[in-house]
Amino acid sequence: MKKLRVGVVGLGHRGRHLFKLVAMFDDKAIAAAACDIIPSNWYEKQWLSPAPLAEMFPEAEFYEDYDEMLEKANLDAVIVETGADIHAEFITRAMKKNINVLTDIPVVANLQEAEMLWKAQNETTALVSVGANPNEQKFCVLLQEFYKKGLLGKPYMMEAEYIHWSLPKSAETIHLNENGDWRKLLSPIRYCTHSLGPLLTILEEELRLVSCFGTGPQAPDSNKDDMVCAQFQTDSGCVVRLMRNGRCRAYVSGPYWHNYRVFGTEGYMEKIESMGDAHIRYNSMKELDTKLKQISGEKMPPAYANHPKAKEAGHGGMDFAMVDHFLDAVLSGGPAPISLREGLAMTLPGIYAEESCKRGGEVMRMRYPWDPDWKATFD
Ligand SMILES: NC(=O)c1ccc[n+]([C@@H]2O[C@H](COP(=O)([O-])OP(=O)(O)OC[C@H]3O[C@@H](n4cnc5c(N)ncnc54)[C@H](O)[C@@H]3O)[C@@H](O)[C@H]2O)c1
Repeated sequence: MKKLRVGVVGLGHRGRHLFKLVAMFDDKAIAAAACDIIPSNWYEKQWLSPAPLAEMFPEAEFYEDYDEMLEKANLDAVIVETGADIHAEFITRAMKKNINVLTDIPVVANLQEAEMLWKAQNETTALVSVGANPNEQKFCVLLQEFYKKGLLGKPYMMEAEYIHWSLPKSAETIHLNENGDWRKLLSPIRYCTHSLGPLLTILEEELRLVSCFGTGPQAPDSNKDDMVCAQFQTDSGCVVRLMRNGRCRAYVSGPYWHNYRVFGTEGYMEKIESMGDAHIRYNSMKELDTKLKQISGEKMPPAYANHPKAKEAGHGGMDFAMVDHFLDAVLSGGPAPISLREGLAMTLPGIYAEESCKRGGEVMRMRYPWDPDWKATFD
């Protein structure tokens, strides 16, 4: 079988992780090339890495210039792992060369980039898939399964929170910021994709209205909201509440936790992480026993539960499933496991929410590039 030549751009901790992950699929892919403008990221030992990347992969080509990598490395696919606010230009440059893309999230940093990518889709043969790894987690797989079986009915209220313990002097925060300062600068609500992504898989409509408030900075050396809370609504009236954090002193369930609750006309489902445990619970009026039932809440996607490599691959198996699905899609000629449209539908609400927050919570109507009345500016 043909092996795909895969390159990674952006070798922060996430890009290095994805590069090693691609190499685990040695029957489907070759971790062929990598690129970062900070060359020490490939030839020096880095955080969470047993050895320098260039030493671990002597056959791989390393570049400082992205265009040069696209030109010379003969890639079938590129994985975009640059800072969270600079993905779009890297995606577009690969699309122009018809090189398939797996991009990390959020997909775009503003409405103009959304328009640019949406148009670029029409001029490329490349498959563009969005690396929304939380959409691969067990909770999300079961959520879709229960929804399709009618166990939840129509969702009318959903909520999510993604809280990441973060103090400026903690070792983890220092390491996470060592290559760039997007984590310090980006409004927390822009990083909404891990939370909205899974919920949107059972909403058959876009989020349309948003109102958002922030707490303001709660420390003298901070310049952004410590916590932000957005409320969204769809045209049919489903309300989605999302809480995100900037700086956070709570260490409740380890360094971070993702919680979700879904209220439907026929049932209820939640994933709650607390004190190191995670639980998925649900009940349905469609079952004989309507009491709440509990399922263990590990992240491992059920289809990979017995896979010998998936467990070692980070984020409880979600990353393994994401890369596996992407490689299979490229090898089989598509479709993208998570499409650009799905990626924009989970990214743009954060961009509008940030603007609503700046306007003191003003209720704003959101548009997407596939809407007839789309425009790349706010009203
Ligand atoms: N899905 C997840 O679970 C998850 C977890 C962490 C991070 N992320 C995402 O992964 C991405 C990377 O995160 P990170 O923590 O590794 O960030 P980072 O800032 O540490 O790394 C980004 C790297 O991109 C490089 N870069 C910037 N401009 C470049 C250019 N022009 N050419 C080549 N390289 C360039 C930087 O030098 C840096 O090394 C972000 O989008 C983030 O949102 C996802």
